[in-house]
Amino acid sequence: MGLSLTDIISICDFSKKDIELVLETASQMDSLPKEKKARILENRVIASLFFEPSTRTRLSFETAIQNLGGRVVGFSDPAVSSTSKGETLSDSIRMVSGYADMIIMRHSIEGAARRAAEVSKKPIINGGDGANQHPTQTLLDLYTIKKEFKKIDGIKIGLLGDLKYGRTVHSLMYALAHYKNVEVFCIAPESLKMPEEIIKDNSGQLEIKETKNLHEFLPELDVLYATRIQKERFADEFEYAQIKNVFILGREILEKTKEQFRIMHPLPRVNEIKQELDSTPAALYFEQAKNGVPVREAILSLLKGVEK
Ligand code: NCD
Repeated sequence: MGLSLTDIISICDFSKKDIELVLETASQMDSLPKEKKARILENRVIASLFFEPSTRTRLSFETAIQNLGGRVVGFSDPAVSSTSKGETLSDSIRMVSGYADMIIMRHSIEGAARRAAEVSKKPIINGGDGANQHPTQTLLDLYTIKKEFKKIDGIKIGLLGDLKYGRTVHSLMYALAHYKNVEVFCIAPESLKMPEEIIKDNSGQLEIKETKNLHEFLPELDVLYATRIQKERFADEFEYAQIKNVFILGREILEKTKEQFRIMHPLPRVNEIKQELDSTPAALYFEQAKNGVPVREAILSLLKGVEK
């Protein structure tokens, strides 16, 4: 049985079965011999269109494609594409879908991936659309939690930082709602709170608490998921400057936390996590980034045969 989806646009389109299928396939990818893996995307061309900057998402997707024996075409800077000549997104996508077997894209406009999926004859994978969604990041976040804690049910997770503009935490909230007894602590200053709509959509399934104080729930947490303040989404630079260092995690937080407490972060970090935490057992963020490869291998292999 495959995915019930033809495109990966929003985590909200996933059933629990779809999510679990990706996680299981990722874990198989982790142990599949290299030669076997290298036949999965043989003779396939995958387009990687990054209209917005990226390091991990693009490189882990491109690594996954190479590991699966596929080939990559695309760009990492829209300035070198016809976008700079005024070509519309729809035209670019329609055309690339005639070249490639799947399209991975990142764009600053919310809803861009959904629009692309409407005009593309081939599966679209959303690598982030503005402040909206980042579904493949969420799948690797869930994979990381499951690998570390052997379960997702019952997890107590703090989401810290820019919960207003951070697309990774938006997607994560919806995904966690599929699991039992999950408690989510939204920790943000007033101006960067989790959007009301997302809280409302998930409050039936999740136990959600909101606070401005990092220390309030720290001893209860299994995971603290820190995020970068999303500078590029602020209309006012002064407002960003005022809030950019609102939470900085250092070694001292570990005095208050559980033994199995872990810190996650989608990366890149700016000032949110001091380097002194990197060598502690709590630091899970580099492992998390590494998990991007098997999870994206799983996504690509599951979408391979999909007809739109
Ligand atoms: C995140 C993103 O692009 O939303 N990065 C990533 O994909 N790992 C987080 C961020 O940029 O802050």
